[in-house]
Amino acid sequence: MSQKATKTWCLRLLPVLFFFISFVTYYCSNAILQSYGGTTKPLNSSKTLCGGWLTQKKWGSLNFNISRHTELFLKLEDFFWREHLSKLALPYGIKGSELLLLKVLAVTANYQVPASIEKLECRTCVVIGNGFAIKNSSLGSIINKYDVVIRLNDAPVRGYEEDVGNKTTMRFFYPESASYNPGLHNEPSTLMVLVPFKQQDLRWLKEILYNEKRVRKGFWKPPPQIWLGDISKIRVLDPHFLHQTADRLLQIPLHPKGKQAPVHPTTGILAVFVALNYCDVVHIAGFGYPNSRSQRQPIHYYGYDTMRSMKNSYHDLNHEAEALKRLEDLGAILYLHPHL
Ligand SMILES: *[C@@H]1O[C@H](CO)[C@@H](O)[C@H](O)[C@H]1NC(C)=O
Ligand SMILES: *[C@@H]1O[C@H](CO)[C@@H](O)[C@H](O)[C@H]1NC(C)=O
Ligand SMILES: *[C@@H]1O[C@H](CO)[C@@H](O)[C@H](O)[C@H]1NC(C)=O
Ligand SMILES: *[C@@H]1O[C@H](CO)[C@@H](O)[C@H](O)[C@H]1NC(C)=O
Repeated sequence: MSQKATKTWCLRLLPVLFFFISFVTYYCSNAILQSYGGTTKPLNSSKTLCGGWLTQKKWGSLNFNISRHTELFLKLEDFFWREHLSKLALPYGIKGSELLLLKVLAVTANYQVPASIEKLECRTCVVIGNGFAIKNSSLGSIINKYDVVIRLNDAPVRGYEEDVGNKTTMRFFYPESASYNPGLHNEPSTLMVLVPFKQQDLRWLKEILYNEKRVRKGFWKPPPQIWLGDISKIRVLDPHFLHQTADRLLQIPLHPKGKQAPVHPTTGILAVFVALNYCDVVHIAGFGYPNSRSQRQPIHYYGYDTMRSMKNSYHDLNHEAEALKRLEDLGAILYLHPHL
C-alpha cells in the first residue's frame, strides 16, 4: 500500500474509531453508575430491573386483556365535552356522581402526578401493605429508595420508620380510613388519593372542601369531620382501576345476585393493580393476613386489630391472596420479605 492510500484509510477509519470509543465510554459509564447505585443496597437495585421490554412482556403475560392505563386521577376536563362517560355507578364508575365530582375537582384543581415522577423513563414502585409481616423487617431504608412509595389508609409512619420507611408518594384512602391530620404521617408532598367507593365518599370530601354541613349517614364508621390536609394534594382515583381490579384481576361478580353480599377489592390489591399500570417495577411489602384460624394474631404492624375485626368486611381475602400469588408466580410483583 502506498503512503497515500494508507492515509486515506486512516481518515476513513477515524469516524468508526471515534464512534466505537464513544460507544464504549457510554456503556462503561452506565455500567459504573449502575453498579455504584447497586452496591449501596442490600437488595438488588430496583433500577437494575428496569427495561422496557421486560415490563412489556410481563404486562402481556398477565392476560388481563387490557392495556396499561397511566392516567391515574379524574380530571375536571373529563366532564366537559363528554356524554355518557360511564355506564356504571360507584365504586366501578362515575354514573350519577358527575355533579359531586365536578364540585370536588373544581376545588382540588390538580390532577397530575408530580412531573419529577411522571417524566421518569422507568418508575420503580413499592406498595406498603399494613400487614404484621413487615414488623421488625428493617426494610425502611430500602423502601425509601423507590421512586414511588404507596401507602394505604391511615397506616402510621412515625415511630415505625425502621420497618416501613418514611417516604410516602401517594396514600390511598377513603373517608372511613382517613386521618383528620394527614400531616402527622405523611410528607408535605404526599398525594392524598381518595378511592371513592360510594357517593357518600365524594359528598364527604365536598362538604369538607366547601365547609358545608356534614352529613353523617351512610358510613360504616364515622369519618373525620375536619380534615387538615393540603387541598392541592388531593386526588380522586379513576374508578376505572377498581373496576378492572374487580373484573379482570379478581374476577368477582360486579352485580351480585339475590342475597349475595357485595364484595369489593381492598385498597391494598387495588394499589397493586394501579402500580402495575403506572410503574415499571412493582415490589410489595406488608401484604398477607395471618392464618384465619388464629383469631388472636395481630393483623397490622401497628395497633391491636386481630382477624376478628375482619369478619364482617366486604372483602374476599382468600381470593386476593390467590391473585397476589399468581402475580408473584408470573414475576409481575416481588415481595421484599419472606411470606406465607
Ligand atoms: C439479585 O440478582 C441476582 C442475579 O441477577 C438474582 O439471582 C437474585 O435472586 C436477585 N436477588 C433479589 C433479592 O432480587
Ligand atoms: C379481549 O378483548 C377483546 C376486545 O375488547 C375481546 O373481543 C376478547 O373477547 C377479549 N378476550 C378475553 C380473553 O377476554
Ligand atoms: C420485634 O422486635 C422486638 C425488639 O427486638 C421484640 O420484642 C418483638 O418480639 C419483635 N416482634 C416480632 C413480631 O418479631
Ligand atoms: C426520613 O428519614 C431521614 C433519615 O432518618 C431524614 O433525613 C428525612 O428527612 C426523613 N424524611 C421525612 C419526610 O420525614
